[in-house]
Amino acid sequence: MSKRVGILTGGGDCCGLNPAIRGAVYRAHDFDYEVFGIKDGWRGLIDGNIVKIDLQDVEELVDKSGTILGTSRTNPFKMENGVERVISTIKNYGLDALLAMGGEDTLGVASRLYKECKVKIVGAPKTMDNDLSSTDFTFGFDSAVTRAVEAMKSLEDTGKSHHRVMILEVMGRYAGWVALYTGLASGADWILLPEEEPDIEEMCKQLQRVYARKKYALVVVSEGIKLPSIGIEKEELDQFGHMILRKREIGQVLADLICEKTSLETRHAVIGHIQRGGIPTVFDRMLGLRTGVKAMELIAKEDFGKMAAMNGDKIISVPLEEATKEIKIVNKEWLDFAKIFFK
Ligand code: F6P
Repeated sequence: MSKRVGILTGGGDCCGLNPAIRGAVYRAHDFDYEVFGIKDGWRGLIDGNIVKIDLQDVEELVDKSGTILGTSRTNPFKMENGVERVISTIKNYGLDALLAMGGEDTLGVASRLYKECKVKIVGAPKTMDNDLSSTDFTFGFDSAVTRAVEAMKSLEDTGKSHHRVMILEVMGRYAGWVALYTGLASGADWILLPEEEPDIEEMCKQLQRVYARKKYALVVVSEGIKLPSIGIEKEELDQFGHMILRKREIGQVLADLICEKTSLETRHAVIGHIQRGGIPTVFDRMLGLRTGVKAMELIAKEDFGKMAAMNGDKIISVPLEEATKEIKIVNKEWLDFAKIFFK
């Protein structure tokens, strides 16, 4: 009898999810599997919201952002009877295996379901934050950075005309990959990352130096940086215990600080969720397709508890537990590399 496989996408959406679903469904077709789309992440397994999907549902997805399955930040381990309901839906639908596409939260749940409840599950690495361990890249990151680099070009154009300091606040949560790549690829004069205590005095000196040369300056700031003037006690948390960072308005706070300390006219923009949509880059399409295919092959081999991951030019499998043990942050080597460009 052919296997019945359920696919879900959880956490923040991003480019590459739809190509990954396409890759998984096409490969499932080779194995004669029946594929079911689980709606809105783990919520679909809690509520029993599941639909059958086939080639015609996914064949036009390679260049589409978002996720046709919908998503949510539901954590079954934080809900009353959440895990029991997940298990009973899997039984009711006769699902033989699951493919979860997500970041550390969604795949963290997958890892626990595998370990603690023996659910037959594999993962695919999604997140614009690129902070998942055991994989060189996650899909969603390249498109998010591409969007932000385009935004920086616009800020440069207007900053140059008005002779201003222009700041772009980008997402990325507690990892600075998005800010790092955006800043380096757009020629920013300073980049602030969550991995490093902000040195406001040094930044202001650098901005004044740069301003003296070219009469404008560019800054990229990650939403997750720590600033002494911003408290974290009263922040709202999601079901995975993460702060809703956009409420801190870090770009605005930084613009006020720079203006006050340097007297340079400063403006800021927040790119926010624009980074999660738009046309997926070729890199994200390829990574989505490849990891989707690999994940389905892991199911075929009954190699559960694993995630499809990028390692150099290969797609390999790594334990879900390893991938979700801790987030991958920007290391000192990268921080030093970025500083080469702050002159
Ligand atoms: O994890 C992806 C991400 O885009 C983060 O960079 C950001 O902090 C968060 O999601 C925003 O979440 P939401 O879409 O729930 O506002």
